[in-house]
Amino acid sequence: MKPSVISSQYKDPVSPVIPRSRRGASPDTVPLLPPLKWAGGKRWQIPHLRPLWEPHTRRRLVEPFCGGLAVALGLRPARALLNDINPHVIAFYGWLKRGLRIDLPMRNDERLYYAHRARFNEQLAAGRAKDRETVALFYYLNRTGYNGLCRFNRKGAFNVPFGRYTTITYRRDFSSYRDAFARWEFTSRDLEKIPLERGDFIYADPPYDVEFTDYSKEGFTWEDQVRAAEWLARHRGPVVLSNQATDRIVSLYETLGFTLQYHAAPRRISCTGDRSPAREVLAIKGF
Ligand SMILES: C[S@@+](CC[C@H](N)C(=O)[O-])C[C@H]1O[C@@H](n2cnc3c(N)ncnc32)[C@H](O)[C@@H]1O
Repeated sequence: MKPSVISSQYKDPVSPVIPRSRRGASPDTVPLLPPLKWAGGKRWQIPHLRPLWEPHTRRRLVEPFCGGLAVALGLRPARALLNDINPHVIAFYGWLKRGLRIDLPMRNDERLYYAHRARFNEQLAAGRAKDRETVALFYYLNRTGYNGLCRFNRKGAFNVPFGRYTTITYRRDFSSYRDAFARWEFTSRDLEKIPLERGDFIYADPPYDVEFTDYSKEGFTWEDQVRAAEWLARHRGPVVLSNQATDRIVSLYETLGFTLQYHAAPRRISCTGDRSPAREVLAIKGF
């Protein structure tokens, strides 16, 4: 794939200010930004999710598809179980919980990028995916690589090319995440293996349904969408599902008895310059 030029500078979104008085929220709610660039971040949904979450802040937040953590960091639950199939992102969060400091050289430099990418792949091949050095390299590659992509070849080697940013801000000290993460558990497993508690509040944001095909980009099939929907429908506590409002997603969640809300998602400027908003759905149950 030849990458086309995208935005020249990545800007972190503005972090919300969270009132100290919020019940059940972590005591020192210093606003924290998602530490990685992650496709499909749902920070824009926080104003829609907050009224749903507010009456339930004493519950544990469970995210089967936590990705870049925009929702957990936006809501700041005291307790959470955050899961994603991507083991690298979960290993990185595990280190943030321990108060990660990065001492690798980090610069927006093509030679350094490919040297760090080669070292990261060496570490994976040697079975050292969870080492501090490996997660630090993962952070650097995420910041510096093309569009924040996380992609591997058939042999399991990370193969994202150098990015096209004019300026990148690198963070070295992640100790401010330690307190927020203290009672957050991170796992990387199939959603049906997540040890749910009866009263958990689930926010599920699977890969978008791509209509007229069985496979989405991330290999999340229509069958997976149905399996996730049925798993969510069986849960007794409050559930919020987010997805693209395709006809079949709408009909699936309606059939399972969810209430639907529609929202226009801000869309990043695509290669074709299309700025039209995507229509998204929040399917809600158990409130
Ligand atoms: C739309 S993103 C979630 C974004 C997240 N809500 C945020 O705000 O950053 C979907 C996530 O699902 C994960 N994923 C894909 N297939 C999965 C599976 N079978 N089980 C768990 N996670 C999966 C991907 O790695 C990706 O991080």
